Amino acid sequence: MLPAYVPNPVAALCGGGTPVDFGKTSSDNRRILGNGKTYRGLFFGILAGIGIGLLQIWLSNTFGLPELPRHTPLSITLLASGALIGDMCKSYFKRRLGKERGEKWPIADQYDLVIGAFILMLVFDPSWLFTNVTLLTFIIILILTPILHRVVNMVGYFIGVKEVPW
Ligand code: CTP
Ligand code: MG
Repeated sequence: MLPAYVPNPVAALCGGGTPVDFGKTSSDNRRILGNGKTYRGLFFGILAGIGIGLLQIWLSNTFGLPELPRHTPLSITLLASGALIGDMCKSYFKRRLGKERGEKWPIADQYDLVIGAFILMLVFDPSWLFTNVTLLTFIIILILTPILHRVVNMVGYFIGVKEVPW
């Protein structure tokens, strides 16, 4: 899951500049996505996710580590882009519900990346998903994700990268 976990914090570190929705509003007069979703965050986040995935591929090829998942260029690209596409879809629905940028939306805020990554994987590389993600792995992902999310966001808040600690 590293290629899916890395894009969000990197987007928070590198984000800023032109928002993905170009500042446009929807028919409800609220922003389509909001200022929290930028092209820079999207680009560097996905790049970093793919980068960590390439490192995993290199590590397992070099040291033959059987406990590492057998990633492919496709699997890491799907996990990294799926994570941030999921994050953007979440923001779209968050704005439609009238929630401001950075406002809490429990469950959606934590699992958007997992849902996005898994849906993309299911559509474009289902065999990778079913070979590598067992039921036990999936349960571990469901437990680990909100914990990691919280810890990383608190760190982001304290170093001044995130505006809120969630
Ligand atoms: N970010 C970005 N581009 C993205 C995703 C994130 O620039 N595609 C940056 C933004 O600076 C954002 C920060 O990362 O504020 C934290 O991301 P997130 O918590 O997903 O955004 P929020 O500001 O909470 O906005 P939202 O309410 O829409 O989730
Ligand atoms: Mg948020």
